[in-house]
Amino acid sequence: MKRAIALTVFFAASFAQTGANRIQPGDPLPGLTAREQELFRLGFEDFIAIETAGEGLGPAFNGNSCASCHSVPAVGGISTMTEVRAGYKDADGKFTALHGGTLYHLFSVPPHQCQVQIPAEANVFARRAPIQLFGDGLIEAIPDETILALEDPTDRNGDGIKGRAARVVDVATGQKRIGRFGWKAQHATLLAFSGDAYVNEMGITNDLFPSQQILGVSPELQKLCGAKTGIEDTRNRRTGLRSIDNFELFMKFLAPIARGPVNADVLAGDTLFNSIGCAACHTPLLMTGPNPNLSFDRKRVELYSDLLLHDVDTGDGIEQLSAEANEIRTPALWGLRFRRPLLHDGSAGTVDDAIKRHGGEAKSAVERFTRLSGSEQRNLTAFLNSL
Ligand code: HEC
Ligand code: HEC
Repeated sequence: MKRAIALTVFFAASFAQTGANRIQPGDPLPGLTAREQELFRLGFEDFIAIETAGEGLGPAFNGNSCASCHSVPAVGGISTMTEVRAGYKDADGKFTALHGGTLYHLFSVPPHQCQVQIPAEANVFARRAPIQLFGDGLIEAIPDETILALEDPTDRNGDGIKGRAARVVDVATGQKRIGRFGWKAQHATLLAFSGDAYVNEMGITNDLFPSQQILGVSPELQKLCGAKTGIEDTRNRRTGLRSIDNFELFMKFLAPIARGPVNADVLAGDTLFNSIGCAACHTPLLMTGPNPNLSFDRKRVELYSDLLLHDVDTGDGIEQLSAEANEIRTPALWGLRFRRPLLHDGSAGTVDDAIKRHGGEAKSAVERFTRLSGSEQRNLTAFLNSL
């Protein structure tokens, strides 16, 4: 449970649209009802609220508010931090999550008996960068069937590109769904991701994730360092909402980043993006399904992703739910101009680096990219930097 913070003045300023009436990073979707705007505002307050050990933070954690990792270029964005995952791969290539999990928290609350330690047997290490949340409500509203229709696990059309939909069980509803959020497409809904992030990033247990996994720290020690049993995320008496509901609503109503200026170079780059095969995975447009809420009803989602898992030779070696060790979900490219560094581990500094790092299923596309003339490559970069 969090203290409420008065942010009325801030909001009055940030909600005011600019003269050109363009959506700014961090704005809510246009056309929300007054009630939805209120829920977005409450969600924002909780998303930026800093938790203390007394309020349930830890004992092991990665950040003390959602916004601590999701705030560039506005709350809901990214940050330069990366998280650590580790595991063990045997001589036959079989992956084992040591102690039953792969996330090794960066921090712990004093007196730090619950600081996780990566076991000496671990031989797979991975870093993961945050993912921007702008437009995630629209991504959530894309029907499972739309994503399934894009997959081609056996490469039937022979273009070298497979793409698998991530089949997950949504912890929020218990239903079998198609995952789309996270580098491993590990969640289908924003509520499930909220519960996962609250316990795994901040150590706050909730209805969906009632216990925290602190790898390699004994249950006795966990008790000593203040790990609580029971649900720490309770309903707010005034609003009736849990923090995980607040996070869900903030992300659901967060607008996508608006396109930057489009000139002739950008248009030429757009054509190349399609013709050399980038769009085979970075699908420019998907549609939401029929939806009782008009803000999500058959809307265009210009995300530049098929939301499928691919092996482009950059994989982090970690098996997670439906995703194999070297599979990564195609990242959406909208908002790319506000995002550096790039790739799941933040290892690419420029768009050019990111493209050249693609191999595996993207090998032919990258070969076509390297055969482009200098000015064509510059146009492609101009296009990417307009997203
Ligand atoms: C310590 C940094 C950190 C904190 C704190 C954090 N996140 Fe994240 N977030 C990440 C990283 C890293 C990823 C990518 C994780 C992955 O896929 O393995 C991510 C991914 C996400 C995604 C997936 C977005 C997409 O479109 O695929 C959602 C949703 C999300 N976070 C919500 C939250 C919420 C809600 C909170 C607060 C309860 C939160 N995060 C706190 C680092 C953080
Ligand atoms: C086979 C599918 C596939 C094809 C084809 C493909 N990509 Fe990607 N792209 C991916 C995946 C998967 C990642 C994530 C890799 C990672 O983070 O390790 C990615 C990452 C990126 C990123 C970094 C995004 C970020 O947020 O970090 C950029 C930029 C990008 N691709 C551009 C391109 C361009 C330009 C082309 C065409 C030359 C292309 N891609 C072709 C699947 C593909």
